[in-house]
Amino acid sequence: MASSSLYFLLIFLSISSFTLLSQSQTSSKLNKFVLPIHQDNKTNLYVANIYKRTPLLQIPFVVDLNGRLLWVTCEQNYLSSTYHAPRCYSTQCGRANTHYCHTCFSKARPGCHNNTCGLMSVNPVTGLTAMSELAQDVLSIYSTQGSNPGPLVKIPRFLFTCAPSLLLQPVLPGNVQGVAGLGYSPISLPTQLASHFGYAGFAPTFALCLAPNGVIFFGDSPYYMLPGLDISLPVGYTPLIISPLGEYYIEVKSIKINNKDVPLNTTLLSIDRRGIGGTKLSTINPYTILEHSIFKSVTEFFTKELSSIPLVKLVEPFEVCFNSKSIDKRTRV
Ligand SMILES: *[C@@H]1O[C@H](CO)[C@@H](O)[C@H](O)[C@H]1NC(C)=O
Ligand SMILES: *[C@@H]1O[C@H](CO)[C@@H](O)[C@H](O)[C@H]1NC(C)=O
Ligand SMILES: *[C@@H]1O[C@H](CO)[C@@H](O)[C@H](O)[C@H]1NC(C)=O
Repeated sequence: MASSSLYFLLIFLSISSFTLLSQSQTSSKLNKFVLPIHQDNKTNLYVANIYKRTPLLQIPFVVDLNGRLLWVTCEQNYLSSTYHAPRCYSTQCGRANTHYCHTCFSKARPGCHNNTCGLMSVNPVTGLTAMSELAQDVLSIYSTQGSNPGPLVKIPRFLFTCAPSLLLQPVLPGNVQGVAGLGYSPISLPTQLASHFGYAGFAPTFALCLAPNGVIFFGDSPYYMLPGLDISLPVGYTPLIISPLGEYYIEVKSIKINNKDVPLNTTLLSIDRRGIGGTKLSTINPYTILEHSIFKSVTEFFTKELSSIPLVKLVEPFEVCFNSKSIDKRTRV
């Protein structure tokens, strides 16, 4: 209730322009990848099916904008001839920024070896973390050229972590096997896709269209939406701020309701050196979440400005609900 619902949320993660066109345009360089996503209708989380392993298998992942890496559970049915767990203190472990040496006391299998490096995987919904084995295996993703779909491109030694199954519990959508992180960090999905092409002309840039049937583009803009998915571009942009943890923030300076400033403690709106405060973008939370004093202020202000509209029975998790039938149909909110 604090803000209007956003049916489409476009996030611009680069300084380059984002173009949405359905007509064809050709581009000779193979420098862009496309990953369709869909919204799970029970949890509202976004899910991407990603090709991994040898032989290739499509595996569903929850998309976490701020996640530092890609993790998958490996305890059961991990069949792949190309799985490899780098040794402690190897370059791969250095790249993943881990110096922890992993020991595993059950039978050797993917995710369970000695003298491999260990890394924390996080379930962004529950906040649970688990020590996991750093691993490498094939990841394949569709390329695009202009608006034409291109071939599957194989990244042979994609770094990810093998997490225990319990990390999936209890709230990820049914058949999801892990989480794909898009954070500003060394082994996140966009970072590895960009470095796969090295200097060959692939900026570490991506764009997200969060719709029931949405898409992620990796690589240089412009991006072409599929016919039927065209939407009008919002005017203007806002700079991104990267937090010390590699998470994406924007700088909200004020909140207006009915064109009037809501009184609030503006100190809370900026992110400090410890990464506290500020306005974080998220693909995990289905609603905007406000700090308590801001929430209180926004709720009171909104109720005052909308005093002519009757209140209705509360719909969880909201504390104030209005009768939409009494709201002028001409409003866009
Ligand atoms: C939820 O999604 C599934 C599969 O995507 C679909 O079969 C089902 O009808 C949907 N349920 C609702 C309530 O929309
Ligand atoms: C790892 O080493 C320990 C002994 O230090 C041993 O008990 C265990 O079986 C080994 N694990 C694997 C997966 O080989
Ligand atoms: C505003 O928030 C900051 C950070 O929490 C706090 O230190 C400060 O005392 C607050 N100011 C007021 C007027 O409440």
